[in-house]
Amino acid sequence: MCGIVGYVGPRDCSDVLVSALTKLEYRGYDSAGIAVFDDSLIKVAKSKGRLKDLIDKMEKEGKPSGHAGIGHTRWATHGEPSDINSHPHSGKRVTIVHNGIIENYKELKQFLLDNGRQFLSDTDTEVVAQLLDYYYDGDPINTIQRTVRDLRGSYSLGIVFADFVDTVYGIRCESPLIVGKGKDESFIASDVPAIINYTKNYYTLEYGEIAILKDGSVSFCDLYGKPLAKELKTADWDEKAAEKAGYEHYMIKEIHEQPSAVKTTITPRIENDMVNLTECSITDEMLKSFDRIFIVACGTAMHAGMVAKYVIEKIARVEVIVDIASEFRYRNPLITSKDLVIIISQSGETADSKAALKLSKEMGAKTLAIVNVKGSSIAREADMVIYTHAGPEIAVASTKAYMVQLSVMYLFAFELAFSKGKITKDKYIEFTKALASTPEYIEKTIEEVKDECQYISTKLLNADSLLYIGRGLDYALSMEGSLKLKEISYIHSESYAAGELKHGTISLVTEQMPVIAVVTQNDLLEKTVSNIKEVKARGAVTIVICDEHANIGNDVADYIIRIPQINPLLMPMLAAVPMQLLAYYTSVNRGNDVDKPRNLAKSVTVE
Ligand code: M6R
Repeated sequence: MCGIVGYVGPRDCSDVLVSALTKLEYRGYDSAGIAVFDDSLIKVAKSKGRLKDLIDKMEKEGKPSGHAGIGHTRWATHGEPSDINSHPHSGKRVTIVHNGIIENYKELKQFLLDNGRQFLSDTDTEVVAQLLDYYYDGDPINTIQRTVRDLRGSYSLGIVFADFVDTVYGIRCESPLIVGKGKDESFIASDVPAIINYTKNYYTLEYGEIAILKDGSVSFCDLYGKPLAKELKTADWDEKAAEKAGYEHYMIKEIHEQPSAVKTTITPRIENDMVNLTECSITDEMLKSFDRIFIVACGTAMHAGMVAKYVIEKIARVEVIVDIASEFRYRNPLITSKDLVIIISQSGETADSKAALKLSKEMGAKTLAIVNVKGSSIAREADMVIYTHAGPEIAVASTKAYMVQLSVMYLFAFELAFSKGKITKDKYIEFTKALASTPEYIEKTIEEVKDECQYISTKLLNADSLLYIGRGLDYALSMEGSLKLKEISYIHSESYAAGELKHGTISLVTEQMPVIAVVTQNDLLEKTVSNIKEVKARGAVTIVICDEHANIGNDVADYIIRIPQINPLLMPMLAAVPMQLLAYYTSVNRGNDVDKPRNLAKSVTVE
């Protein structure tokens, strides 16, 4: 996902832009560039590859020197990664950086070609730069407004006009853009970590809002030039939270942060062993009124929804339909005003999840967002929101965000089950007490299984393909284990309901295909053990994740990872840990870029 930054202030602008872009590296990118007012002229430096390639290039060819400019990390969508396709892109008097997608760029390009414009790159971004230039009438806001009127898509832009020296413009049309405010300096950025080294104070731009950064101050207006007063926010975390703190990778740091993230998320919501979600506008009356629940999300967040489905249906006896947001939004789902739609999203900006939320509201459903990023689009647009408090998650592979999503879904499930009268007060208290104790058990699990997972990961190193199997909650969890492994190790893997193997997939199993079985649900243990024996008999190396007391021996498993035993309903919160660690160490052993896996972006803000 592309990253935008911009700066106006007394520091060396090129240095600030590059340093801010390093903080956006987690979003994934394949080229980088900056444009700076240098002696009142806009100078551009850009390069395919990593920021280091840009820095090397600037060392050889000269670094733009000045106090205002824009910068970009590009994740190629239109046109291959190359120096030419890298941002910034320019027209005669306008230079821009862009995050997002312009859907109608082809017709706009044709219009501009017909009007004598020429193009250097294959990007949709250059079309926007040329269009701004085409409409330029000496008034930046008017020019932006006329241009935006023609654009279709979701995007945000950082813009500099040659005639408006040392001034930076930012506009948001869907894709996130924040504006940082320090003493005598201001910033634009796609995300808060980019600016946190300089200031914790920032504004969030809404759709169609423009920020003007000039002379160390910042002002806002809408597309018609009407001034806007905006609320200044303060990040409740500092630069340390977005740094590696001595860990080799963000992912392993974030795995270790899970106990405290869960604690921070659940503690304020449990009072006297009872769940209290009233600060999120969730009342008993409301909970009682829903006939069905839809959980809609993407990737890891959707997998958290899968666990929630098993838990809610089991204890609250309410039907739960889990949907992939990109499918939900286009299949005319059967939602009514009696349904609750829960959108789970770490970033709160995922395009498909946002669209699913919009559709659910249009269809009259009540909506609840479970979101990590404060003030994000999904959090703002849903009827109710429960924030997870994971702090910034930098590694592309989600770990702590998944864990806190699970913890919130448990809080919700317990409250729902109790309000609907499906569990006794004693049971309710037993569950909340068990949930409150998970942080210490997650910590214990990390310490107990870390070395073992590191060792077992060496057995996965050369596999071409893997299977994850489980039943019930273990199946829901194995979906996430499989995604984690494939996204960072690049080893193909599938998760399968253990009982479904015999209906086709077991034909794939040979000694070349390791099988990881999750067996934390004692009521299903014997059944899953039979399935493990079946794959073992076909030569598979078997790795079993089970609790410390499970009756499973080496006749069934080549490797056994034992985790502490807690309430079976909550076992996914512990069993997720060895899955994350197996994926992490396999990726490290294969020499992969663990935090920034190839082709992936942290936040998918376009379809
Ligand atoms: O920000 P979101 O939670 O909405 O992101 C959804 C998915 O893109 C995300 O969970 C993705 O699958 C993970 N980064 C994978 O580890």
